[in-house]
Amino acid sequence: MVEWLKNAVFYEIYPQSFADTNADGIGDIQGIIEHLDYIRELGCNAIWLNPCFASPFLDAGYDVSDYKKVAPRYGTNADLRRLFEEVHKRGMHVMLDLVPGHTALEHPWFQESQKPQHNEYSGRYVWTDDAWKDFSGISGTMGFLRGISQRDGCVAVNFYSHQPSLNYGFYEIDDPSWQQPMDAPDPMATREAVKDIMRFWLKMGCDGFRVDMAGSLVKNDPQQEGTIALWHDFMQFLEKEFPDAAMISEWGQPDRSLRSGFHMDFMLHFGPSHYTDLFHADHPYFSREGKGNAKAFIDYYKKCYEPTNRKGMICVPSGNHDMARLTNWLDKEEVKIVFAFLLSLPGAPFIYYGDEIGMRYLKDIVSVEGGYHRTGARSPMQWDSGLNAGFSDASAQELYIPLDPDENRPTAEKEMADPDSIYHEVKKLIALRQSVPVLQSEAEIEFLYCEEHAYPLAYRRTNGDSSVLVVVNPSGNEASFSYNGKLGSVLYQNGAGYQLDNGKLTVPAASAVFVWEEK
Ligand code: NOJ
Repeated sequence: MVEWLKNAVFYEIYPQSFADTNADGIGDIQGIIEHLDYIRELGCNAIWLNPCFASPFLDAGYDVSDYKKVAPRYGTNADLRRLFEEVHKRGMHVMLDLVPGHTALEHPWFQESQKPQHNEYSGRYVWTDDAWKDFSGISGTMGFLRGISQRDGCVAVNFYSHQPSLNYGFYEIDDPSWQQPMDAPDPMATREAVKDIMRFWLKMGCDGFRVDMAGSLVKNDPQQEGTIALWHDFMQFLEKEFPDAAMISEWGQPDRSLRSGFHMDFMLHFGPSHYTDLFHADHPYFSREGKGNAKAFIDYYKKCYEPTNRKGMICVPSGNHDMARLTNWLDKEEVKIVFAFLLSLPGAPFIYYGDEIGMRYLKDIVSVEGGYHRTGARSPMQWDSGLNAGFSDASAQELYIPLDPDENRPTAEKEMADPDSIYHEVKKLIALRQSVPVLQSEAEIEFLYCEEHAYPLAYRRTNGDSSVLVVVNPSGNEASFSYNGKLGSVLYQNGAGYQLDNGKLTVPAASAVFVWEEK
């Protein structure tokens, strides 16, 4: 694994909503630079920055029109270079968001590709050879566009209808008249173009990429074997030219993604992970009502974990820009227990901006830039009690997304002043993780107790000779399981103490505890 990833704790920044320094109502790179010390003080030593490239912003920047240019609303390439430098000065790292699956329709490659005359970019996207032939039934596509230009064909789309799919070829070929194999010249040219983008930013000082929809690239590839092989090639390129670059996939299926060489993958709110059972379901496991079920999540986790040589390569994020925030389902004390769990798992923890202060998910706000239900999780960061909660000097109406209107909304300032806040719990947990290798990414995990609809959840983290027992009991009742080890001093405790009697370990309601194990 890339060395710096081993103890990385990430903070995800949605640049639009973090800090605005030029009063245009939208965040910018200078705003991020000005708050790096806040992130460092929280304890995070790495940043994932959502796309900040030129874009028509129909999908908040996941519709890139120039991969090598910072969107003017955020600043310039020189500003991003300065961000890299400022991050590095603080001993931190930064990952950009790479969107290899699709571009905006405005991208010059697509503008050329849609022309009827054959040119260098005709095969840069996935087209049929006849406007009446489409992509119905082909895996890896989310529909297609027909009739948008004079080119006689349909173009596949990867996500929204304005995001045409870049061409990496087909794994299974049903119609050779237009479906290209993965090693045909056009898909190979797309690969080279993506390597060129990675090279561009890595040379400038970026430390790696979170890769958008990494599993979507090769078409007609139901088991994703072609896409896995493709990423293998990308990873070989990086190992050769940029061995310190970290690659973390948005794939959501570590049992597949990690075979391709990605350093880490996420468990997400979509796909087979059961992430939502933990925090988002009707009866989330982390709710005090105690009706949740973590078993399916843990079973899938174990299935993905075993083939990784028991290395910490699975990331469980606190949230992200695509899902409602934790506080939509859980209160302050419940969220603290969530963080005890997240910060004691292997793999790099990811904290979504604002989750560390318990920001709310804003229901019923109007969609902005293709956010739809996701918009409520993308509202401006709440810094202090100043104008617009310290986010921007623009007028409230000019803000890119409205602020949480609640007068009791949490702010970083308030949370930092309150020793009992989520902020301080998160800070304490990160500091603890950073001080004991047994809690960090690569130390092993073994689940000791996780039964259907049962509490607590118990696991052991092991590093060489040392091991720590972690027991989380989000439910409102005390809970027990059989435990035959010997316990030493307590490393962390939220709630009253545990009791160990005759092989039965009992923990109090709504608690989390980390205890050293003795031989
Ligand atoms: C996943 C991103 O996280 C999401 O925000 C985006 O809309 C889609 N991929 C399409 O790029």
